[in-house]
Order: sequence, then C-alpha cells, then structure tokens
Amino acid sequence: MKKILVANWKMNLSGSQSVSLSEKIKKRISGFSKVKLILAPAFPFLNQTEKIISGSAVSLAGQNLAPWKEGDYTGEVSADNLKEVGCSYAIVGHAERRGYFNENNDLINKKIDQTLSAGLTPILCVGENHREKEKKQTGSVLGRQIREGLQKIKGFPEADLIIAYEPVWAIGGEKSLDPEEMQSIFMTIKKNLTNLYSEKFFDEKVKVLYGGSVDGDKASTFWENDFVDGLLVGGAGLNFDSLYKVAVANRL
Ligand code: PGA
Repeated sequence: MKKILVANWKMNLSGSQSVSLSEKIKKRISGFSKVKLILAPAFPFLNQTEKIISGSAVSLAGQNLAPWKEGDYTGEVSADNLKEVGCSYAIVGHAERRGYFNENNDLINKKIDQTLSAGLTPILCVGENHREKEKKQTGSVLGRQIREGLQKIKGFPEADLIIAYEPVWAIGGEKSLDPEEMQSIFMTIKKNLTNLYSEKFFDEKVKVLYGGSVDGDKASTFWENDFVDGLLVGGAGLNFDSLYKVAVANRL
C-alpha cells in the first residue's frame, strides 16, 4: 500500500532552491510505487513547483490558508487561490501556526471548512507540547484539537481527511516519538473521529501521519508501523539526499 510523505518546506527555501529540489524529486522519487509524495513550498513558489511536478504523481499542498473565502484580507491566501495554482491539499493548524500566530481550534475549524469548500484535502496537524506530555494530557489535548477543529464541518464524512500527529516537543529537534507509542495515538484519533462521525469514515477516509524530527535513519521504523499511514517531514525535506533517504526507507 502507498504511504504518504509530506515535505513541508516552511520558509526555508528560495525560489531557485525550490525549483531545483522539485526537479530532482520529479526525476528520482516521483515514480516510487510505495510513496505518495506531497510538497508544501512557500506560497510564492507554488506555481513554479506545480509546473515542474505536473504530470507526475507528486501533489502540492499549501502550508496554510485563510479562514475566509475571499475579500479584503490583506496578505491572506484563500483555499480557492491554492486550488487555482494546483494544490490538492492544505496543511491546517501546524504547531508553528498555533504557536507563533496564536491559531486556536476555532480558527482552525474555519480553515478546515474552507479547504473542503474548495475541494482541497486538509492535513490537520495535532499534537501536545512538552508540558502536556509530562502531565500525561496527550489524549485530552488531541481529543480537544480534533473535536473543536472539526465540529460542524459539513464536508465530512464524504471528504478525505489527513491527521498529522506532530508532538510539539518533537518538531525541529532530534528527539522523535517512540514509534511504539503510535498505536495508542492512532486509537485516540480513531476514537474521537468515530465519535464525531463513524468508524466507517475513519476506516475509509482518514489517514494518520506522524511528524517530528523524522530523518532517513528513523524513517523505516515509522514506515513499518501499522498505525502510521505516512510521514510529515520538515528539516529532512529540505535537501534531496535527506528526503530521498526518508522515501527510500519505505520498502514495504
Ligand atoms: P521536522 O518538522 O521534521 O523538522 O521536525 C516537522 C514539522 O514541522 O512538521
């Protein structure tokens, strides 16, 4: 079965770096039979990236989007804008958005609604911070993020949903989740989505990814994990060799 690999480039690459990385990816990774690759370049480079990957199996995601459909919102990018430049996905509620821009579950809920209205698949990021982990609040934090982030969304259960479990304490560092812990995380996500919608929805429409300090060395244990439908990488996706190493580690 194909597993998903999302490379979130954040604000790290220039236009020419995005172009040259996309070209190598198209040539050497896009044909992998077990990896479905999704690239999330910075907004100004979505168009160039799309032109390169077009016709390949690689898809495009926005890193963020506005909670409104259109209007006088200087500096914002709508779900329709993303769709128009070729995105099929949008990352919503990344820990950096929640942390640096105070995005709460209510705002994230509006963004999810926009993604579905435009026909994009949301990649909803959830995860506890270090203090919450110490206090053993992971389950309740994930439950709240899922319930409040998805409540009253009309597009489900018909639409697809990707949940990226990204513990805040694991992002951008060296320490990853112990892959053994993915089973209980997966079950928590499943329980909450089953309560909101149905088990059928979860089984047929939902994918659960892990993200947080995954590199080529750690990737295979996550790929092999039955409770991981894919990975979301930040740092490891910024140059061709490290991304290739993560992708090629999936030999299932
Ligand atoms: P990282 O980032 O792989 O550099 O930890 C992951 C993320 O922010 O999604």
